[in-house]
Amino acid sequence: MSFLKIVLFSLCCNLVRATNTYNAAIVDVSSPDINTGKYASLIREAGERDVDVLVLPTPRNVASETEFDSCINELDNYDEIMKAVSDAAKDARIYVVAQLLERYSCQNREELIRSSVVFDRNGAVISVYRKPVNSGSRCNTTSSKMGHFTTDFGVTFGVLMEDDIILTNVKEVNGIKNFIVSSSSEATFVFAKHFSTFWAYTNNINLIIDNGKFIGNIDVPKFSNNLIVAEFESYGSSDISKTLTITPPTSYFIGDMSQYIIRPLNLEASTKGYTETVCQGNICCQFYVKTNSIGAKQQDVTYGLVVFDGVQNLGNSNIGVQTCSVVACAGLYKRSCFVGSEKNNTNIIFDNILIKGNFSNGNTAHFPTILTTAQSVMNKENFRFTPLNKNTKYVTAELYNTENVLSFGIFGRDYSKDYQTSEFGSINNTSIINELSDYISSDNVQEFFDYLWIRLRVLIFVVSIYVLEMM
Ligand SMILES: *[C@@H]1O[C@H](CO)[C@@H](O)[C@H](O)[C@H]1NC(C)=O
Ligand SMILES: *[C@@H]1O[C@H](CO)[C@@H](O)[C@H](O)[C@H]1NC(C)=O
Ligand SMILES: *[C@@H]1O[C@H](CO)[C@@H](O)[C@H](O)[C@H]1NC(C)=O
Ligand SMILES: *[C@@H]1O[C@H](CO)[C@@H](O)[C@H](O)[C@H]1NC(C)=O
Ligand SMILES: *[C@@H]1O[C@H](CO)[C@@H](O)[C@H](O)[C@H]1NC(C)=O
Repeated sequence: MSFLKIVLFSLCCNLVRATNTYNAAIVDVSSPDINTGKYASLIREAGERDVDVLVLPTPRNVASETEFDSCINELDNYDEIMKAVSDAAKDARIYVVAQLLERYSCQNREELIRSSVVFDRNGAVISVYRKPVNSGSRCNTTSSKMGHFTTDFGVTFGVLMEDDIILTNVKEVNGIKNFIVSSSSEATFVFAKHFSTFWAYTNNINLIIDNGKFIGNIDVPKFSNNLIVAEFESYGSSDISKTLTITPPTSYFIGDMSQYIIRPLNLEASTKGYTETVCQGNICCQFYVKTNSIGAKQQDVTYGLVVFDGVQNLGNSNIGVQTCSVVACAGLYKRSCFVGSEKNNTNIIFDNILIKGNFSNGNTAHFPTILTTAQSVMNKENFRFTPLNKNTKYVTAELYNTENVLSFGIFGRDYSKDYQTSEFGSINNTSIINELSDYISSDNVQEFFDYLWIRLRVLIFVVSIYVLEMM
């Protein structure tokens, strides 16, 4: 009897599941010979694999603006590609999201426009989201903030490009739980690393990223010839057994840290657990840190307590940012932070990090950020994140018993402070020199850690690093 119940139950569940899930595919971008000529065969392959939505990759040759000039001259086949994709989508009876490039002439200049074009199962174009490739373009394109389309299986997808994921407040696109993101760069900004993971995690969103990443899928992605296929729940990723899988960063950001308040973490005091509060602008972050070093070996990293409240540049946008973080630094200079360790372990276990910040309310959103030197999985046992809500005045992030941490903290966006710079490249030489002299003369903007105390031991260690580097 109970066996029958189980069978019935699982049948029933499968039934429910089948109607509430869909299959999405992306192209395995690691295979070297993917080009627009392959689109038709990729679409056919997806059709055979029971895919509902196929996301084609961003053409590789425009991955960066620097290759802009070399590729603008090779583009005369927009109409051809449109027709080929449309025909193939119709034959395979699947939705296809294609990234197409279009030459566009305005103000006597040739510009390149990137479009996310969505084809339905009949090969008809149902959504086009366009953006100039050159962020300094003076061309007006459709000014929508994102594209979207609704499928015959009842799911509405948002279509985003590049930095949209950082610029878009999900609260404003209420109800959309499935997003397709193309040419996401994730490298232009210090807290942007793996940001899509945290964005999806915080909002219970399914993400299909054309660079080869799925977030929120309920099964292990299946590789076929040139495709990676995964199954998603239509209503977004669920809260049950929510985990965060963190992969090590492949590159490190080195940039201007002068605007950040960075205080050194007192590793010695942290072995017993200690609390420190650091403020900037309107935000105060309280850090409680308890560490446990492995063996008596000399550490190869120090840590900084980072606080920032202000505006950061992101392409031709400027974005409001508030953040509280613990980050690994390679030395006692601010610019060595976020560079981290080249090794895949840090010899320091964080028994506990508790970060509490009084972030601004309003048109804001808050995300956890975690980077580790080796792949790690965060679950309810070792990681907790509480955003602002009716019952809390603070955003808190907690980490337990985790090693190899490169950064851990809270990244806050204040969308009300965002603005666009009118023209790219309008920075004039005078202002740069002015800023530089400001930079040198200002007492607040120091290259060293803020509130630095130098211990002999640490100094010797730093000196030894420099000596080693010179050898
Ligand atoms: C761009 O937009 C501005 C106003 O938003 C308008 O005056 C101008 O004519 C537009 N230019 C083009 C090329 O469409
Ligand atoms: C760390 O790197 C060493 C060699 O550099 C390697 O043997 C080891 O497997 C790596 N560990 C992890 C967890 O990646
Ligand atoms: C956070 O706390 C500091 C110090 O108590 C205060 O000056 C600041 O206004 C607070 N910020 C917010 C957003 O409440
Ligand atoms: C700005 O400086 C660069 C070199 O530093 C120079 O080539 C350029 O002509 C300058 N631009 C203006 C507008 O002065
Ligand atoms: C260049 O900067 C100076 C000083 O900030 C400013 O007075 C001037 O208007 C700027 N020039 C342009 C073309 O923006």
